[in-house]
Amino acid sequence: MARTTACPFLSPQRPVRAPGFRPDGTDRLGHVERQHRDEEVRPPDGTGSGAPPARRPWVVGVSGASGTPYAAAVLRALLAAGESVDLVVSRAARLTLLDETGISFRDAHWRDDLRDWLARGADGKPGTFGSSAGVVLDGVRHWAAGDLAAGPSSGSYPAKGMLIVPASTASVAGVSLGLSKDLLQRAASVTLKEGRPLVVAVRETPLSGQTLKALVALDEAGAVVLPASPAFYSGATHIQDLVDFVAGRILDAAGVPHTLYRRWEGELGGSRGGGTT
Ligand SMILES: Cc1cc2nc3c(=O)[nH]c(=O)nc-3n(C[C@H](O)[C@H](O)[C@H](O)COP(=O)(O)O)c2cc1C
Repeated sequence: MARTTACPFLSPQRPVRAPGFRPDGTDRLGHVERQHRDEEVRPPDGTGSGAPPARRPWVVGVSGASGTPYAAAVLRALLAAGESVDLVVSRAARLTLLDETGISFRDAHWRDDLRDWLARGADGKPGTFGSSAGVVLDGVRHWAAGDLAAGPSSGSYPAKGMLIVPASTASVAGVSLGLSKDLLQRAASVTLKEGRPLVVAVRETPLSGQTLKALVALDEAGAVVLPASPAFYSGATHIQDLVDFVAGRILDAAGVPHTLYRRWEGELGGSRGGGTT
């Protein structure tokens, strides 16, 4: 049964924030997500009288591991927390998204497809998080996975850090080697070289020795390796609760406030509303 959950970012009353901008103020045509010619260009550091602070997004990389509901939960929570997001969906992730939700994610129609995705629950059914028309995406900018000239491919692009959710073993291997075979992997390498937070929510089981070595390399390089591994102590009653637990731990690692799961409070059985007696 679909669960209806209140979600602050879905409110149409939410104030509209200025969309993304290029730090150098240039306009690079030929990319559907870059059609901002009629939008105000702000200085990159937010200086000037009354200028709003510069946009500093979290880069969210969705790779082709199973677990697109984890990505949706992270995206909803980031937007609810007032964070900006730069979204990169790998080619393989389009297959998992299609398989897990029925959504064909198209670069040219990413807003429509993302709205549809974020309104769906972990079971892939529409309506769990309200109507897709109510999903507010002002804080989101999308970059095509093959666009190696995109903003997040440079360390000078102002980003807070990057969350790879879910992370395939292929992306784990690629990032650990600095392969940069697509924008997702390049943005992750940039995040590491700039010393920014990188959270890698790997989803695979069992894990080969090869992948374990790559995960150790990522840990040593400064990433947080966060297996998409839900816990059962916070009182989950629905698949969405398990998804939200993992999404909440990802946001914990990034230092973004949220209310996605019930935290452990030191009392056995606390999530069932009582002690152990
Ligand atoms: C339906 C489906 C589910 C998959 N699930 C996983 C998975 O859970 N973990 C994983 O590492 N790869 C999984 N894969 C394989 C990856 O998609 C594949 O390795 C791909 O090359 C990853 O590319 P990317 O890292 O560029 O997204 C899955 C593929 C499909 C089609």
